[in-house]
Amino acid sequence: MTGNILRELWKWQERHTGLRGKWNQAFLIAKTLKSILVAIAVLVSFNLAPVQAGDPLPKGEGRNLVSKKCQRCHNLDRIQEMRGSREQWSEILEEMTNNGLELNDKDSKLVLKYLETHLGPSPKK
Ligand code: HEC
Repeated sequence: MTGNILRELWKWQERHTGLRGKWNQAFLIAKTLKSILVAIAVLVSFNLAPVQAGDPLPKGEGRNLVSKKCQRCHNLDRIQEMRGSREQWSEILEEMTNNGLELNDKDSKLVLKYLETHLGPSPKK
């Protein structure tokens, strides 16, 4: 059964590549595998990049909480790139709560304070 499928596949690729020599075929397969490996390597390194860059958030009270709570679904670059007033951040926190963020009252005050202070409309550097 599996043998049949493999034979069909082999015939199919012979027809479509016009390659009959075993070595040519092996070469083609090796080339395909190589591009797949390169693609995987590229994807992996893109995914790892933010982690390697470390925690981009400015220092301050509440930073660890933000880092812990907000990284569950996306990286912190998203947060760092965003600037907003207290109202805007408050809206974002509401949105994130709808997305599934869990913050108790005390934590959400601390997070809001942190975001307002360090990622306000004109960030203090
Ligand atoms: C349960 C998952 C989850 C958690 C936890 C979470 N977010 Fe998000 N966040 C999302 C999703 C999904 C998006 C993209 C879709 C969207 O814009 O709603 C997003 C997008 C964002 C954006 C971009 C919004 C925009 O309009 O461009 C900001 C800023 C943000 N999140 C901030 C935060 C902050 C701050 C925290 C922590 C207090 C947090 N997120 C925690 C799911 C989450």
